[in-house]
This record gives sequence, C-alpha cells and structure tokens, in this order.
Amino acid sequence: MKVKIERPTYSDSGVLAYFLMKEEKIPEEIVKITGKISEEEFDKKLLKAYDATTLGRMKFRRVLLIGLGEKKEFEPDFIRRAAGVAVRYCKSIKCPELSIHMPSISGMNAKLVAQFITEGAILSNYKFMELKTKKEEYFDVEKVSILTEERAAEEGVAIGTILAESQNYVRYLTEQPANIMTPRKIEEIARRLAREKDSLSITVFDEKMLKKKGMNALLAVARGSSEPPRLVILEYNKEKKSLPLYGLVGKGITFDSGGISIKPSANMHEMKYDKSGALVVLGVIRAVAELKLPIRLIAALPLAENMPDGNAQKPGDVVKAYNGKTIEVLNTDAEGRLILADALSFVSEKNPEAIIDVATLTGAILVALGRHGAGLFTTDDKLAKILEEAGNRTYERVWRFPIWKEYEEMMKSDVADIKNISNTGEAGSITGAIFLKEFVGKTKWAHLDIAGVDLINTSHPYLEKGASGIGVRLITEALIFLSKR
Ligand code: BES
Ligand code: ZN
Ligand code: ZN
Repeated sequence: MKVKIERPTYSDSGVLAYFLMKEEKIPEEIVKITGKISEEEFDKKLLKAYDATTLGRMKFRRVLLIGLGEKKEFEPDFIRRAAGVAVRYCKSIKCPELSIHMPSISGMNAKLVAQFITEGAILSNYKFMELKTKKEEYFDVEKVSILTEERAAEEGVAIGTILAESQNYVRYLTEQPANIMTPRKIEEIARRLAREKDSLSITVFDEKMLKKKGMNALLAVARGSSEPPRLVILEYNKEKKSLPLYGLVGKGITFDSGGISIKPSANMHEMKYDKSGALVVLGVIRAVAELKLPIRLIAALPLAENMPDGNAQKPGDVVKAYNGKTIEVLNTDAEGRLILADALSFVSEKNPEAIIDVATLTGAILVALGRHGAGLFTTDDKLAKILEEAGNRTYERVWRFPIWKEYEEMMKSDVADIKNISNTGEAGSITGAIFLKEFVGKTKWAHLDIAGVDLINTSHPYLEKGASGIGVRLITEALIFLSKR
C-alpha cells in the first residue's frame, strides 16, 4: 500500500471516506449527491459507517461516512481506527483505491492526523498469508490518498509509513512458525537488515563464542534443543561517538516448550510467539534507521529454542551468567530471564544512557492486564514517564508495576546468588523483573513484559488476528522523544 497526500480538488475513482464527529454536519458536497441523510441512517457513533453510491455523479464510486463519536469522548487513536474501517470496507468491495478527506481535529496538528491515518491504513491492510497456497482471499488496497491542502501532512505520512511498515515487518516475522523461524533464521534476517542499511552493523556470537564469553545462561536454555543458540548484536550509528547511546534487548525464544519443566500441551503452539521481544527490537532498529534518528543504539537479541531433550538443563542446575552471578534454575520454563540475563549484562557493560528490554516474560502479566497493555517495570521515574506518554500516543499502552526492595527476598537462592523463580509464585511478573534487575548493574533500565499484547486473538479495529508487532511504535516513539533532548 502506498499512502500519499493530494489536494482536495484532486479526484479519482474508488472510495471517498469522511470521518465525522457527532457535532459535525455532513458536508454539503456529499448531501448534494446522496440527498439528505437522516440521523437514523447515520448516527456518527464511533466507527459506525454509512456507505452511499454516487450514482456516477462523482468520479468516486462510493462515499463512505465514518463516525468518530462525540467530541468530548474523542481519543486520537480513533483516527487510526476509522482509517482501518475505511480500508476494510475497500477490501470488502474489492476496491484498490481509497481517498480520505483529512478531518480537522482540535488539539491535533495536520502532521499528526496524517500520521495516524497512515498508520491505521497500512496496519489494517496487512494480513499474514504467506503459508497459504490459495491467495485469492486476500485483497490489497493499493493506494490511499489523504485529501488536504496542508503541506505539513507529508511529513506525517512519511513517519506513519515507516512506523507501520516496521510493525508489519515484525508481524510477518513473528507469525512464522518455529520450524521456519529458528535462531539461525533470525540471524540471517538481522544480517539482511544490517546489509540494507548503511547505518547498521552486526556481530553474531555463535555457540563457540558464547562459551568463550561465558554466556552460560543462554547456553543452558539452548542445551535441550538441536537448534543452536545465537546472540545477535546490532549497532546503529556505531561510529558516531558523540551521539547518546541507548541499549535495547529482546527475548528471542523461537519456541518455548517449557523444557524439562514442560508446559501443558493445550495452546503450546502459541509459544512460537515467544520470540516477539527480539523481533520487536529488530523492528525498532529498522524504524530508527529509516527515521535517521540522531542517537546511537546497541541492541542484543538472545536467541534460543527451549526444548526438553536428554541434554537439557534440569531443575536444580546452577549456571554462571556473563556478569559472573550464579543462578539456580528451579524451573526451566522461566527461561526468558536466563537468556536476558546474559544479554542485559552484555549491553550494560557498554554504558548506555538507558536500556529498554522487551519480552514475553510471564503468563502472570496476561492475568493482570489481559491483552490491552504491557507491563512496565523500571526504577527510573523519567523513563517511566517517557514510556507511558509514548504508550498513550501510540495506543500501545503500558502500565507500571512496583519493583520494591522487599520482593528481592523472594528470589534469593539457598545455593546460588539468585534463583530463577520464587517459592510461592506470587507477584510472578514483578519477581521476573526483580531477577532481570540483577543483570543491569547501575544502568538506567526499563523492562516491558509484552506477554499478552504480542498476540491479537479477538477482533481489533486495525490489526488482524495473529502476531501484533506491538512494541515497535511504542519504543520508537520513546526514542524519538529521547533523540530530541
Ligand atoms: N514464555 C512464557 C510466558 C508466557 C506465558 C508468554 C503465556 C505468553 C503467554 C515464559 O517463558 C514462562 O513460561 N513463564 C513462566 C514463569 C514461571 C515458571 C515463573 C510462567 O509465566 O508461567
Ligand atoms: Zn517459559
Ligand atoms: Zn518463554
């Protein structure tokens, strides 16, 4: 899909969409064609649509009016949702061209409105179809024109396109099953991304190197699988030493069977999504490189498959992580924190201004928040605020949990420095974060637990079922903010 800005006088075939708040009148030029539209026919309730044929009196085949609801209840995300409604409508009537009359929204500038329309359109146009041999069910809306005189809208389209395409890139990669998207395959994809962008460089630690470096927590998780682990390190603007450096870490478990602490078989297939964090980081890097943000980034993607073969790690094993701390592995299903331990201590060694990690870490976060928000854990109030605001803007919302000192007791081991689960299982997401905190040293750090939001399993206004790519726009937005400081 290509999104463009055109003048309102421009006319084309296809569908013309208007977004209208309850308080707004239906534009004269539309009433002239359709005749009077009563309140009963179109009540302008949020995302309610009214479609009218133009009977050949306009170049557009059809006009689609979409409600934005009452002014006082308006939220900026409604713009993305309305764009999603328009695109889905075009798909349903197999119309490849859509024009959207840009609404003027108080409190939002033209650039932002155009950005959100673009995001909603590109995100709702995407569906994972690659593994189906019959393609005909899929209809692509090829062109979206945003009709406005405002030249500032161009920039919004450019930013929105980068963000939404980066998110779709992540959705595509994350949806791939574990027999295809192995640690080595993700390595290959990261290498391709690094080749495509001059500002990126890549280093990959294979098993031999991981052993040499003492990344034994990552190695321990991978032991039970025939797929070898990797640590992929991507650096953006590596040579530009005067720019501030930020660290990113993403959990990349390509399949989480639980290992010897094996999971129940119901829904185990969903554990192919346990690589979401690593792929979100890949998407953020893609977006940051395309936006050419004036920062430096170092990202570490620990990649492994968690399986239970004869060589697998066992409950009770003790491993020494990259930072020298010993970990008692009481449950092999709490594997994400093990691979993150090595990656976080590796990145913190580079002294970034802050590290953000993103991981499908705990089922407990899904219990707490459902699928409507990610858990945020940080000791830094400024970082919390930046991520909360970025979450509200992108509608990839986060909710902050405490990581009080008292929780630290729960993770103390009798035989090692720390254990990977608490005895009680209480506060499961928080104790997970407490574990991670042991591996970041003094670096400012925020942890995002995306178990839940990584997967869409009900109807959503602009995301199809499947891998969501949620986290890409959130973290990129936070980095855009940080790049302006
Ligand atoms: N990958 C899972 C977390 C998860 C659960 C993600 C459900 C998405 C949906 C993680 O590795 C895990 O198994 N965590 C355990 C931790 C426990 C053993 C302390 C969990 O949440 O049960
Ligand atoms: Zn697990
Ligand atoms: Zn896991």
